[in-house]
Amino acid sequence: MLKNKYGYFDTERREFVITDPRTPRPWFNYMWNERYAGLISHTGGGFSYLDSPRDNRLTRMRYNTLPWDRPGRYVMVKDKESGEYWSLSWAPTLNINYDRYECRHGMGYTHIVTEYKGIRGEITYFVPRDETGEIWKVSLTNLAKYPQNIEIYAFTELLMGNALNDLINQPNDKHFTDIRFDRDTQSLVATRRYWVLNKKVSVVQPNIDWKYVLQFSSSLNVTGFDAGLDTFIGKWRSESNPLAVETGKMFNTEITAGDPVAALQSKEKLEPGKTLHFSVLMKVSEKGSVNLGEINAWKSEGFIDEKLSGLQQYWDDYFSVLQVETPDEKVNTMLNIWNQYQAAVTFDMARNSGYYHGGLLFGTGMRDQFQDILGMVMAEPERVRKRLLNALQFQFKDGSTLHNFFKLAGTGERTRHSDTPLWIPFGLIKYFSETGDTSIFEETVPYHDADAGTVYEHMVRAMDYAISETTERGLPRIMNGDWNDTLDHIGPKGNGETIWGAFFLGYILKEAISLFEFRNEPEQMKKYTAVYEKLKHSINELAWAGDWYVRAFRDNGQPVGTPGDDQGQIFLNAQTWSVISGMAPAERGDSALKSCLDKLETPYGMQICWPAYRRIDDTVGLISRCVPGKKENGAVFNHASAWFVLAALMNGQVEDAYRIYLKMLPVNSGADIDRYETEPYVFSEYVTSPEHPTEGQASHSWLTGSAVWMLYIAYGYLLGIRPIPGGLLIDPRIPADWNKVCVTRRFRGKTLQIMINNPDHVNMGVKSITVNGKTCDSRILNPEKFPGPVLDVDVRMG
Ligand code: GLC
Repeated sequence: MLKNKYGYFDTERREFVITDPRTPRPWFNYMWNERYAGLISHTGGGFSYLDSPRDNRLTRMRYNTLPWDRPGRYVMVKDKESGEYWSLSWAPTLNINYDRYECRHGMGYTHIVTEYKGIRGEITYFVPRDETGEIWKVSLTNLAKYPQNIEIYAFTELLMGNALNDLINQPNDKHFTDIRFDRDTQSLVATRRYWVLNKKVSVVQPNIDWKYVLQFSSSLNVTGFDAGLDTFIGKWRSESNPLAVETGKMFNTEITAGDPVAALQSKEKLEPGKTLHFSVLMKVSEKGSVNLGEINAWKSEGFIDEKLSGLQQYWDDYFSVLQVETPDEKVNTMLNIWNQYQAAVTFDMARNSGYYHGGLLFGTGMRDQFQDILGMVMAEPERVRKRLLNALQFQFKDGSTLHNFFKLAGTGERTRHSDTPLWIPFGLIKYFSETGDTSIFEETVPYHDADAGTVYEHMVRAMDYAISETTERGLPRIMNGDWNDTLDHIGPKGNGETIWGAFFLGYILKEAISLFEFRNEPEQMKKYTAVYEKLKHSINELAWAGDWYVRAFRDNGQPVGTPGDDQGQIFLNAQTWSVISGMAPAERGDSALKSCLDKLETPYGMQICWPAYRRIDDTVGLISRCVPGKKENGAVFNHASAWFVLAALMNGQVEDAYRIYLKMLPVNSGADIDRYETEPYVFSEYVTSPEHPTEGQASHSWLTGSAVWMLYIAYGYLLGIRPIPGGLLIDPRIPADWNKVCVTRRFRGKTLQIMINNPDHVNMGVKSITVNGKTCDSRILNPEKFPGPVLDVDVRMG
C-alpha cells in the first residue's frame, strides 16, 4: 500500500485517506461541476463560487492568514450536558484530541469522520454534477451506552459577489446585503442588491443587481439561526469559539448590512447505538426564477443518494477512457486515478481557484487553457470543443491573443507574451488528433476586435502572427516573455529573441504540417515546411553554445544561457524542445539532453535552469529577482521537467526518461513529506531545488500544466499509445524490465484493449501488431477500419 505518515492511497475507492490531520499544509480537494465549484481542505476549509471565483464568490476565503484554509464549511456538535463542543471536520476546534479522525478525499467529494465524546460524526461534502449548489451529508452515531442531548450548528461565512471588492472595499461593500429566515423551508435566504462586475479594480461602483438568491438549509428542525457574522461569532472571538455555539443561544439575526454568515442550530437527542442522518444544503438560483420550495426536495435521502451516485457514475465514465496496468503500482495509481483527476481539475480551474492562486487574479490563461485539454479531451470531447471555441473569441484578427480572460467579465489582458497565440494550433491539433472531428475547423468564431473567421483561419492566423514576429535573423521575438513568464526583460526594445520559442514555433509548424498532410493541403504543407526549414537553419546557425542551445538573445544580441554565464548557464526548455521540435541534429540533441542530465538532474526531477540567479540581472527579468532554487529561478518546475521526460523518450533515452518520470511523481518527490509539504496525490507546480535551504519543499499544488503533460506523456509516449490525425499511433517506449503492459483506451467511439508484450526486454521498437487476431501492417490504428465496438490489440515489442 502507498502511504506516508499522514495517510495512504485507497486505490479501490479512488481516495486518499488522511489519518493524521496535522499535515504540513492543508491538503485539499475539489468538488465541482461546470458552473458551481469549491475547494475543500481536509479540515473542512475552503470556498465556493458560481462561474467565477473572482466575480461571483459565494463564500469567503481569508487571505494571508494561518492556518490558511479558513474559513470553511463547518458543522459543530455540542454536548448539552457538559457544554463541550467540537467540529466534525477538526478545524476550527483544533485543540480537541479526537478519538478518531479520518478524511477521505475522493473524486469530487470529501468525507471526514471524527469520533469524540462517544459520538461518531461523518460528513460528506459534495457538489452534484447537475445542480448549482452543494450538499453536506452528515450522520451522527451515538457510540455511548446512554442517550445524549446535543446541539448541532452548521455554518459558513458568506460573500456573494465580487471577491476582490470584498477584500479592498469591505466596509462599503457590506451595505447591500439582505438575509432573512424563511420558515416554510427552514432556510436562510440570502441575496445582494448590487454586484461589482468591473473589468478591473476601480472606484466606480456599478449600479447592477446580484442576479442570485442563495439558500442555506438543513434537513433538521431549525431551532435558531444567524445571518450576522459578528453577532454569531461574538466580540473578540473567532470561528473556533462562536458565542452562539458556546452559549447555545442563537440571536436569530436577519441582516441588511454587515458581514454575512449562514448559521443554523438544531437540537436533537441521540439514543445509544442510533444514527441521526441529516444534510446541510447550499443552493443558488437566479432571482427571477427562484422557487424557494425546491430546496425541500434536496432534503430527501433519495435525492442526495441519487446525486451521489450521479457523481460516482460521472467519474466511472471519466476514468473508463484510460486504464493501465504496468508493473509499477505508483505509476498505476497516478495514471488511473490521480493524474487523470488532476487533469480534470486543471481543465476547469485553470490557474485560478486554489489556495495558491487565490481566485482573484488570473482568470483563465489562454496558453494554459489550450494545454489543459489534454486529459479531458479523452472523456468529454464535446466540452473541450465548446471550450476551445469559447477561448478563440479572445484572439485578435491579427492572430495575437489576450493572455488571459475572465469568464463573466468577458475580457482579460493583452500582455504580449510571444508564445501565447501558438498554443491555439497546439490545442486544436491535439483535439483533432483525439477526436478526428474535422467539423471544428469549419466553425466560425468572432475575433476579439473584429469580424469573425473560421477556426481554421484562427489557427493559421495564430501561426502567421508568430512567424511575422521574428527578427531579421529569422528568430521569434521574445516580446514580454514566453512560456517562462519571468524572462520578461530580455527584449524590452523589441529585439530580444527566444530560442525556446523558436523551437516551440518549430514544433507547432511540424504538427500543423502533419495536419495539412492529413487534410491533403499540399500548398500549405509546402509553405510551412519552408518556414520550418528556414527556422531550423537559423537556430542551428545562431543558437548552439557548444554543448547546448542558448535560451535567448537580449536586445543587444548577447545570448542568455551559455557555458560562459555564471548564473542561468543552462536552461532546460531550450534543450528539451530542440529534440521535441525535431530541429536539433542528432548529435546536438544528444549533447543537449546529456548536458541537462549533467547539470540539471536533482532527486525530484529536472531543474528549470542552473545555476539559479543570485544577482539581479535586468537584461533577463523577474527570474533574477526570485530567490534561487524556487519557482522559475531554478526550481524543479514540473511542467518543464515533464518536457524532459518527453524529449528523452523521443530521443530514445527511455531509461533516463523513466527515471525522471518516477522522481517527479508526488509519491516519490514527496517521500520526505514534512519537507515536501503539499499533497502527495497531485503534482505541484514546483519542488524547491538543492539551490535553496528549503530543498524538497513543494508549492502551488493542483493547478499546474504538469498535470496534463505528465498524463499525456505517459499514455502517449511512454506507453506509446498516441492520438495523431490519422488515428492511434502505437510506439511504446518502456523500461526494459517491463514484461507486459495492459491498456484500455476509449478512442473515437471504440474501446481498445491493448496488450503490450515485451518478451525480449527492449525499450522500444514494435515487431508486430494484431487487431482482433489479424496482423496489422500499420503502426497507426484507425478504429473506424475495424468492425465491432471493442478491439483486441496485441503489440509485440522487439
Ligand atoms: C505558471 C503559469 C504558466 C507559465 C509558467 C511558467 O505556471 O501559469 O502559464 O507558463 O508559470 O512561467
